[in-house]
Amino acid sequence: MDSVWRMLRINILVYLVVLSFLTSSSLVRATVSFDGRSFMINGQRKILISGSIHYPRSTPEMWPDLIKKAKAGGLDVIQTYVFWNVHEPQQGKYNFEGNADIVKFLKLAQAAGLYVHLRIGPFICAEWNFGGFPVWLKYVPGIEFRTDNGPFKSAMQGFVSKIVSLMKAERMFEPQGGPIIMSQIENEYDGVEYDIGAPGKAYLAWTAQMAVGQQTGVPWVMCKQWDAPDPMIDTCNGFYCEGYKPNKPWKPKMFTEVWTGWYTQWGGANPHRPAEDLAFAVARFIHNNGSFFNYYMYHGGTNFGRGGSGLFVTTSYDYDAPLDEYGQFNEPKYSHLTNLHKAIKQAEPALVSSYPTVQWFGKNQEAHVFTSKTGACAAFLSNYDPTYSAKITFRNVQYDLPPWSISILPDCKTVVYNTATLNNVPTTWPKFTPLGGPLSWQSHIEGMPSADDRDTFSKNGLWEQIGLTWDNSDYLWYLTDVNVAADEGFLKSGYWPKLTVQSAGHVMHVFVNGGLWGTAYGTLESPNFKFPTFSKNVKLNAGVNKIAILSVAVGLAVS
Ligand SMILES: *[C@@H]1O[C@H](CO)[C@@H](O)[C@H](O)[C@H]1NC(C)=O
Repeated sequence: MDSVWRMLRINILVYLVVLSFLTSSSLVRATVSFDGRSFMINGQRKILISGSIHYPRSTPEMWPDLIKKAKAGGLDVIQTYVFWNVHEPQQGKYNFEGNADIVKFLKLAQAAGLYVHLRIGPFICAEWNFGGFPVWLKYVPGIEFRTDNGPFKSAMQGFVSKIVSLMKAERMFEPQGGPIIMSQIENEYDGVEYDIGAPGKAYLAWTAQMAVGQQTGVPWVMCKQWDAPDPMIDTCNGFYCEGYKPNKPWKPKMFTEVWTGWYTQWGGANPHRPAEDLAFAVARFIHNNGSFFNYYMYHGGTNFGRGGSGLFVTTSYDYDAPLDEYGQFNEPKYSHLTNLHKAIKQAEPALVSSYPTVQWFGKNQEAHVFTSKTGACAAFLSNYDPTYSAKITFRNVQYDLPPWSISILPDCKTVVYNTATLNNVPTTWPKFTPLGGPLSWQSHIEGMPSADDRDTFSKNGLWEQIGLTWDNSDYLWYLTDVNVAADEGFLKSGYWPKLTVQSAGHVMHVFVNGGLWGTAYGTLESPNFKFPTFSKNVKLNAGVNKIAILSVAVGLAVS
């Protein structure tokens, strides 16, 4: 009886859904759905190719060109974080102007025929100042970040709701006819959860519920979150993700951050990832059931204004991305990946129709073969050996496979692409040369303050920098006077006293009686930033000596 009634109810529900679909189908562009194999948009299965471009890291003047190049490069999706401290620099005072005009950015993507993956966070890390949190958030009474804490959850929900309602009002979600096909809540939280235990688990469950409650009509992902609660899709970030398995068989396998390089840190190396290795990581992910991948970054860009991060990341966020910091082609990477995307799209009908059958040719050589009921066939031939060139015979044809490479055969016969072979890429590419023209530099000297000429922004006592500046400036002067008696021994002996200053900032410049006496920098000591210590003998005079320390912060860290 009970089960009959339930079936009846299900039938009624189905009718209701069908009816509402029929009545509103002219308005609704159907939905985004998924299963273990792939996403479906308008019922059509897709392998989705995505790239990260963060709107505050370029100018609105650059956006059309970046988006055009992304489209021409074969992307289906633009992925961006939402930057809370860009949009709400002061509590309740919102900014959506200039390069904070997220709606304009998303509409440009839509106009170019691209979808959007909107990573709301609102903790985003992103090597961005304070991980995207506004500084005022730190001073909300009783707050503790990213845990089961009332004031934090309330502020987080407030911002997420603000963004979602803005997107809904602009009809930005796919079921409304907009470009957003998926979102993200939180960001790489599983390490924090591991460290803090039960409150982390409770917070995670709350974030998932809160996200679902937003009713965006598109799926949510949680990257680097092995225990992402249903229906959140857990996803992989890394250099390689071919072995990743989502926590439920009905969730598609997603690579939300394929690292195209790495961020540059002040005083660090300029990281580089070869195009061949990047293409190899993507092809290997795809032939291992991958359904969505995103280049982090496709265009890295620039940290303008207060965007630098506590990880010692200053202005450049180039990331060795396919489009360089200035939006120019980074070759051969851009073209080699464009060719990869063409090959994947040629293979797509077979890819989305089946899981592969795997054939082994040796310890490190495999073929992944995808077939559809309608007769489509695509093969990926792979050689994982880093040094050995392999020859394999596949369906009676011999193929050469360079070391550490994958060949794509969209018809199971013809190699249209090999990840280690640079074909159809520019052989020369633009270089930067000095202009030598009308550029000229100007400099001006800023007066050094003294303890006597205080303006309104000064306080007595030894204050923690951020609590005083609220990060309105990278700089804070610490000033003090030291009185030296005329008969002080070191005045005669010359054994000057030692001044030792330890800072939790990034840099300090020490001035004695108006002259620069020394500078101390923090250093990158893998994996952490080491704070600076200044320790030096200082020459003092009889009478009043003025010690001034200029403390400098290169962005705020949060984890
Ligand atoms: C791909 O999916 C199939 C079917 O679920 C499974 O048997 C196979 O192990 C998966 N391969 C990888 C590399 O995850």
